[in-house]
Amino acid sequence: MDGLRAWAAPASYKYTALPERGSRDAVRTRRDKEQADGNRAIIKLAAAGLVIVVALYFVVGYMKSDPPQSDSCDDSGHGFHCRPDISHFWGQYSPFYSVKSDISPSTPKGCNVTFAQVLSRHGARDPTLSKTVIYGALLARVQSTVTHYGKDFTFLSEYNYSLGADQLTHFGQQEMVNSGIHFYNRYKDLTRNSSPFVRSAGQYRVVESAQNWTQGFHQARLADKHTDLPDTYPYGMVLIPEGSAFNNTLSHDLCSASSSAKGSSAQAVWLDVFAPRLTERLNANLPGANLTNSDTIAFMDLCPFNTVANADGKLSHFCKLFDSDDWHAYDYYQSLGKWYGFGNGNPLGPTKGVGYVNELIARLTGEAVVDHTNTNSTLDSSPETFPLDRALYADFSHDNDMSNIFAAMGLYNETEPLSNTTKVSPKGTKGFSASWTVPFAARMYVEKLSCGDSDEEMVRVLINDRVIPLQNCGVDELGRCELGNFVDSLSFARDGGHWDKCFE
Ligand SMILES: *[C@@H]1O[C@H](CO)[C@@H](O)[C@H](O)[C@H]1NC(C)=O
Ligand SMILES: *[C@@H]1O[C@H](CO)[C@@H](O)[C@H](O)[C@H]1NC(C)=O
Ligand SMILES: *[C@@H]1O[C@H](CO)[C@@H](O)[C@H](O)[C@H]1NC(C)=O
Ligand SMILES: *[C@@H]1O[C@H](CO)[C@@H](O)[C@H](O)[C@H]1NC(C)=O
Ligand SMILES: *[C@@H]1O[C@H](CO)[C@@H](O)[C@H](O)[C@H]1NC(C)=O
Ligand SMILES: *[C@@H]1O[C@H](CO)[C@@H](O)[C@H](O)[C@H]1NC(C)=O
Ligand SMILES: *[C@@H]1O[C@H](CO)[C@@H](O)[C@H](O)[C@H]1NC(C)=O
Ligand SMILES: *[C@@H]1O[C@H](CO)[C@@H](O)[C@H](O)[C@H]1NC(C)=O
Repeated sequence: MDGLRAWAAPASYKYTALPERGSRDAVRTRRDKEQADGNRAIIKLAAAGLVIVVALYFVVGYMKSDPPQSDSCDDSGHGFHCRPDISHFWGQYSPFYSVKSDISPSTPKGCNVTFAQVLSRHGARDPTLSKTVIYGALLARVQSTVTHYGKDFTFLSEYNYSLGADQLTHFGQQEMVNSGIHFYNRYKDLTRNSSPFVRSAGQYRVVESAQNWTQGFHQARLADKHTDLPDTYPYGMVLIPEGSAFNNTLSHDLCSASSSAKGSSAQAVWLDVFAPRLTERLNANLPGANLTNSDTIAFMDLCPFNTVANADGKLSHFCKLFDSDDWHAYDYYQSLGKWYGFGNGNPLGPTKGVGYVNELIARLTGEAVVDHTNTNSTLDSSPETFPLDRALYADFSHDNDMSNIFAAMGLYNETEPLSNTTKVSPKGTKGFSASWTVPFAARMYVEKLSCGDSDEEMVRVLINDRVIPLQNCGVDELGRCELGNFVDSLSFARDGGHWDKCFE
């Protein structure tokens, strides 16, 4: 029995944190709202009981190779197949896909995985509350001003805006079930004999994602004839509340001097470069609508959101209003937001990920957490809430927080600062793009490997199945470093980053 008992989430889990940013006031500036990423809005929604649960169910497995062309992200028995020419370029709104890896993601020959930790984003969701208000108003305006719709735009005259806010869609729940199944199968030698220790940030969609992931994991174990480990669902998990009152390494609200405004400024520059041509085309097809470049982004956002709102991921009409060049430009727009808003390009972005990295070091080495940033020392000093002797860990969080953490680990330290005026492909950015790093249901795996040819354990990191060669620790051709060297390379985190600047 491996003690996932304590801290089971009570069915009636209530949110106590009610930070005030970006929820009620629909006329507040869009940038403010986007900075808040609507992360707080749901707390109120959930408290109001507006939790939408779609109760359909279908079983899928997991897809490894590039999906075929199809007009829906449909279920093939292995996972969701979306049109890769379009759906792989939706920034953080791309449904998870297996990113091509220059280094084989399989466990290297002669090695056994002795430790695996996943850090996962929640699955696909509806727009955040602030965005859903913006989209609804925009469509109402279009429908009340436009009298003649161009070819491909006629669906708009009949379109009823009905997206919800903040919660996982059924598609998003299923992504997380798939992810749990995949984790079980990838790490079978470990998962057969032990269960993951699970933590989740407190927002409902994240908690539900963790639940769906554990459901998938449990389901895969039940189907595994070679295990007799007793396994009862639901698994326990540590829920850490979100909001600036809490130390939480899975949701960083504690660094008050930090801001994602630099991300918005970078995006604004790129928007002026790529969007006017698109806006002109939309306006020509929607005479009277007088759309702005920001409205064009909203129209583009409506493609992924309507697609993931469909249980089968049927490609929305909005997707067909744009071609693949347009989607590449959109993807880059989202990448700029992440890089300068939360990643290496942000002065305090990497610092906000420091607490999590110090927790990772503790787990990898089996030694107590040493951190003076956003860890909660009460939680991290107790074996009930922060055990150090597990082989499997699963943490659930958000895209922005994961972007902070990747930056604190220095995973994209080889990436040149992103140009605001010229699009750079994910290859050119050394693997950094919003859709390659933090799509819906994104996942980072950190593995420890015991290999015959080395006395010391090795560490490897994969982000969405792409091996990310480690930095500054004597990396080998398989992207690995020895554990000691890896820990040494994380001096930025061990030294607390620029935490002192968080409260200036
Ligand atoms: C939108 O709603 C109207 C009124 O309820 C209905 O007549 C119309 O068929 C709906 N359109 C679509 C595309 O479902
Ligand atoms: C996801 O989890 C929620 C909450 O536990 C549950 O209601 C829902 O049915 C699950 N979805 C799937 C696809 O299993
Ligand atoms: C730390 O965690 C403990 C135990 O859950 C909780 O009571 C306390 O409020 C947390 N403190 C902060 C600052 O987050
Ligand atoms: C992109 O814009 C941001 C925000 O204004 C700026 O800090 C950054 O230096 C710009 N990047 C480049 C490569 O010029
Ligand atoms: C179109 O919008 C711009 C501002 O975005 C405004 O200055 C202009 O007057 C509008 N034109 C019409 C015809 O409404
Ligand atoms: C929460 O973080 C602050 C700032 O780093 C720190 O001073 C405080 O001791 C932490 N609280 C807990 C319970 O860890
Ligand atoms: C990544 O770059 C930052 C900034 O130069 C540095 O502080 C950090 O140590 C680097 N991380 C790694 C793992 O090399
Ligand atoms: C890997 O595990 C197998 C089976 O437990 C064992 O026989 C083998 O020696 C291990 N290899 C290494 C490099 O630890």
